[in-house]
Amino acid sequence: MPKALSAHTIAIIKASVPVIATHGPEIIKSMYDRLFLDDHIRALFNHSNQGEGGSQVNALATAILAYARNIDKLEPLLPLVERIAQKHIGYNILPEHYPFVAKALLDAIADVLREAATPELLNAWRDAYWFLADLLKEREADLRRRLEESPGGWTGWRQFYISDRIKESGVITSFILRPMDEKPVVRHQPGQYLTLRFELSTGIEVKRNYSISSAPNDETYRISVKREAAGSGGSRHLHDIAMIGDTIHLAPPAGDFFLEADQVRPVILLSAGVGLTPMVSMIETIDTDRPALEAHYVHAALNSATHAMDQHVRSIAKSHGNIAVSTFYSEPGTQDVVGRSHDYDGFINIDWLRNHTPFNDADFYLCGPKPFLRSLVDGLWEAGVEPCRIHFEFFGPSDELLAA
Ligand SMILES: Cc1cc2nc3c(=O)[nH]c(=O)nc-3n(C[C@H](O)[C@H](O)[C@H](O)COP(=O)(O)OP(=O)(O)OC[C@H]3O[C@@H](n4cnc5c(N)ncnc54)[C@H](O)[C@@H]3O)c2cc1C
Ligand code: HEM
Repeated sequence: MPKALSAHTIAIIKASVPVIATHGPEIIKSMYDRLFLDDHIRALFNHSNQGEGGSQVNALATAILAYARNIDKLEPLLPLVERIAQKHIGYNILPEHYPFVAKALLDAIADVLREAATPELLNAWRDAYWFLADLLKEREADLRRRLEESPGGWTGWRQFYISDRIKESGVITSFILRPMDEKPVVRHQPGQYLTLRFELSTGIEVKRNYSISSAPNDETYRISVKREAAGSGGSRHLHDIAMIGDTIHLAPPAGDFFLEADQVRPVILLSAGVGLTPMVSMIETIDTDRPALEAHYVHAALNSATHAMDQHVRSIAKSHGNIAVSTFYSEPGTQDVVGRSHDYDGFINIDWLRNHTPFNDADFYLCGPKPFLRSLVDGLWEAGVEPCRIHFEFFGPSDELLAA
């Protein structure tokens, strides 16, 4: 734990919350503009999440504001620190990068707040930044050490190749990733994601996170990617251009969303769309390693044309015997029939969960788009499910979700 902040610093930071709240996004935008003047820092980021109004800008502004508000009681921030540290591991953020953000942040505060940015306020923010940065650096060093010590573990980027690709639905294709050195790979925790670094055909290099959809094993990872028609083309590259044999760089598995190794209570896994990927990893793991664990997997898809890996999941459930699978289609196609292609029309809802799952006794794991998470996470809270029983993953920078 870094050295505690002085009472004086804490008082100044707390007093600055209203002004930082008003100018937060402006300060962070100005900070990024300064930071990205440096090419080697710019190259560390995932540029589809940046830019004016970008969700990464909001995520960082939200985190900094949450930090300032909680500066005298850091306990509620620890899950946020864990999430950020895991994300930083995926992007290979190192201790030597922190001074660049410190300078850009303090210069941005001075620039946006002008005369309100007194030397006292800037000193307090310098101390507060380094307190948080030291917490992150400590945790990141610990994560890197563990990765280095684990069989098959690595830090930074390692070269893999696509050893197979499998079409799972009209919109989702899986890729099997095998290391070029043919040495073992570190076993991920089911639910974690990889960061892929690859070049688009335009020559632009992109970084993208993909949850691992297979159970941990020593040889390969499987990712399952939805083709996004809009956007900068990372997923289109994988779908339309990437071939078996193509190389790709991977950062090691990271993320704080995973099935606990000592999970005893029943689990309720809830996903929508491509949010099924971490759930399939969990289900495969429950099948191989947790014969006694009771699991309920409830998935929402548009219809059978977009629904991936359904037969795979159902055959695992059958062989395990203690996994119940239910599917909801919100836009069933003409060929879709309740009882044959899927179990219910419409959306997953709290009443249904209450009536069909061990609602009061289970841990919930959720992954899907923002409206899905908002409705179900809020619904679970309102239904009295304790926050410690709710775990969720979101496929993007977690701006509003972090704020919640
Ligand atoms: C932890 C984590 C795990 C993930 N796991 C998976 C997974 O298992 N499978 C998977 O398929 N994806 C996953 N993702 C998402 C993945 O990382 C990519 O974001 C996704 O593949 C889209 O990348 P892209 O380059 O094709 O599109 P991006 O450029 O990233 O755009 C994504 C979406 O943003 C919107 N968008 C972006 N730019 C514009 C624009 N100019 N105009 C309008 N809309 C725009 C569009 O809706 C677009 O579809 C995960 C993300 C995270 C953070
Ligand atoms: C105290 C200092 C820092 C804080 C509070 C912070 C905060 C955050 C937050 C909130 C996220 C988003 C996490 C999520 O969506 O789950 C994030 C991601 C990230 N951070 Fe940091 N960060 C800090 C330092 C740094 C530094 C020094 C660098 C590199 C120069 C860096 C680079 C990144 C990158 C590349 C991502 C992923 C971006 C993406 O998904 O597009 N961060 N950080």
